[in-house]
Amino acid sequence: MGPMIDKIGSCAYSRSRANFRLYLVILFLSCWLLLLYVLSLGTDTRNSKSTKGMDLPTLYEYYTEGGITAGLETLPDTFQLNKKNITIFSGAIHYFRVHPDYWRDRLRKLRAAGFNAVETYIPWNLHEPERDKYDFGHGSSDMSLFLDVVKYIKTAQEEDLLVLVRPSPYICAEWDFGGMPSWLLQYPGLRVRSSETQYVDRVKKYNSRLMPLLESLQFTKGGPIIAFQLENEYGALTEDGSEEDVDYLKFLKEDYEKYGIVELLYTSDNPISHEERGSLPGVLQTANFQINPEDELSLLKKFQPDKPGMVMEYWSGWFDHWFEKQHHTTSVEAFSDVLERILKFPASVNLYMFHGGTNFGFHNGANIQDEFPHYLADVTSYDYDAPLTETGDYTNKYYACKHIVAKYNKVLTKVPSSPVVSKKMAYKPISVTGQLNFNQIIDRIAPEDRTKSDSVVHMEKLPVNNGNGQSYGFVLYRHAEVAVRVNSTLQIKNGAFYDMGIVLLDGERKTEKLTSTSQLLQFGYWETKNAKLSLISASYGTRTLDILVENWGRVNFGVHATFDQRKGLLENTKILLDDEEVTGWEIVSLQFKSKWVNSLDAWGPVSSHMTAPTLFLATLQVDTPYDTFLDMRGWGRGAVFINGFNLGRYFSAGPTHSLYIPAPLLKTGTNHIVVFELFTAQAQLVFTDKPILGPE
Ligand SMILES: *[C@@H]1O[C@H](CO)[C@@H](O)[C@H](O)[C@H]1NC(C)=O
Ligand SMILES: *[C@@H]1O[C@H](CO)[C@@H](O)[C@H](O)[C@H]1NC(C)=O
Repeated sequence: MGPMIDKIGSCAYSRSRANFRLYLVILFLSCWLLLLYVLSLGTDTRNSKSTKGMDLPTLYEYYTEGGITAGLETLPDTFQLNKKNITIFSGAIHYFRVHPDYWRDRLRKLRAAGFNAVETYIPWNLHEPERDKYDFGHGSSDMSLFLDVVKYIKTAQEEDLLVLVRPSPYICAEWDFGGMPSWLLQYPGLRVRSSETQYVDRVKKYNSRLMPLLESLQFTKGGPIIAFQLENEYGALTEDGSEEDVDYLKFLKEDYEKYGIVELLYTSDNPISHEERGSLPGVLQTANFQINPEDELSLLKKFQPDKPGMVMEYWSGWFDHWFEKQHHTTSVEAFSDVLERILKFPASVNLYMFHGGTNFGFHNGANIQDEFPHYLADVTSYDYDAPLTETGDYTNKYYACKHIVAKYNKVLTKVPSSPVVSKKMAYKPISVTGQLNFNQIIDRIAPEDRTKSDSVVHMEKLPVNNGNGQSYGFVLYRHAEVAVRVNSTLQIKNGAFYDMGIVLLDGERKTEKLTSTSQLLQFGYWETKNAKLSLISASYGTRTLDILVENWGRVNFGVHATFDQRKGLLENTKILLDDEEVTGWEIVSLQFKSKWVNSLDAWGPVSSHMTAPTLFLATLQVDTPYDTFLDMRGWGRGAVFINGFNLGRYFSAGPTHSLYIPAPLLKTGTNHIVVFELFTAQAQLVFTDKPILGPE
């Protein structure tokens, strides 16, 4: 402010010598200008447009003024933080769905919209990829870069945000197995999300590593975390009529407390559907919903008359499954209407999501439903039609919620200006230059990822990954010498494929390309048990039979008993060839880990005719890395790896047809792009500067 006053003053003074009257006029105008300027500063800050409001405290200065004596507390009609009233305006951003180079940008955009908190889940399956092998950002797993949760929480604090954490350990979140490690499926009788001892024992071990990291980040210890969630929509587990396992919730609470977790504890469920189930006395119950805010919040108030209302998940948009006709969106009007009604109620709110991000790798979850198809996997993009897009761009919902928050926020603090959005680049198309055929791919799988077994075994039980089994990707059941007759029939007895089986005879695909849901009723999918396939072969002979099974992602929500979470071919399954059981398999794990993808060499020439799943190579020369998307229209189904990093799956069934490549995954110079395609390849890879999320 100082330099500006000097300038106005000195300007006015120089004129005064020439004309005293003019001087007075100018002085008068200068005062007006000064006044207008000061007023504009105040307005700017209220509208969250400027950082010039030096007179306003930061959020932390405001809430920690005079020292910290208390964390988040519940009074009958308001939350208080450090004994000051607070309405929580929070937005969900999952660190594991956003490239770490963009964490600060996304958090600043949240703060710039006037929000005062960020919420995140913590996925157990990423942080403990193998039993007792933890990764909080400095490990050896492919996602390690994304896993420094402590850094993320500290970055949030640096960006003047409070933090709500949901370590859970079950997180739902459209994330594989709801965040549970797949190696839990190795324990006979283990019951996830219950007080069953094997499960509790593993949660205890995980908490013993996670909780100490979070303990020092609590608000009353000088950190940003103001509250912790216990479990996640635990009331929904009773949807099948089963009793709630209250002991499990009690165990979680005691276990958190054992590690010095002292901030507010809460649970979240839908009040109308689950009433008071899923919570514990003394723990704040919060609500999850998209519509009917008054009904939901009134009911919550009825359950907890002496506590303030909070919506832990106000669904700002929605996610997509493969095969759906449309990309789910909600109108900005409907979004704004419900948000305003929540705040007017009054209640605190967390937007789920504020910024969705991406299901990189093979980490997407899935849902089960009563009607066909009974299982549906989530797409790679987690755009969610949220206030910020998958790439962090502002949407109309961003401006709408910024406006609404400004209207209901009574605590004026300094907010940053909204950061500029990243430039998007449609790089020129590049040609596919190398190819590895199916057998060449299998030849490159190391001995430790190969298992010999008389009968088939599901992927989680394989002795790979130091005995932790295979979590993700594809598993190949190979028999090198089957006696095939003319038009032999292959049958899968007592079972089905989890989730898709592709059959090859001497390296040639015998199952159809998948393009529509009706095919899921045929041989090769989870829908149909005991399905049969005619191998259509012209002559007798000893052939190599390959059954490649793809894990499409484990169910993350609902009553787990209704869908088997194990992937590949399950133990009781028998493979019959003309009614005779085939035994003596070589089981090969195709996990597509970065190190393996980066090790691929001796690429062969590209052929236009594809008879089996194939790997393709293309190189992209980059001067300056920019955010970009691959346009996968024309390709069939598979996954893309950029410099070894698994970008995720694409699928012609849609609705999504693009894959987001954040600029930090590109490097200046040569970038290697590897595509694993199951059905239909193209000669080129095409880039676009806009996502193709599907018709709305
Ligand atoms: C804090 O909130 C309570 C409940 O809404 C209200 O009665 C009280 O006046 C508020 N205090 C301040 C300082 O705004
Ligand atoms: C094998 O199947 C093909 C395709 O259905 C058919 O045209 C052919 O006649 C069959 N051969 C025999 C010997 O059954």
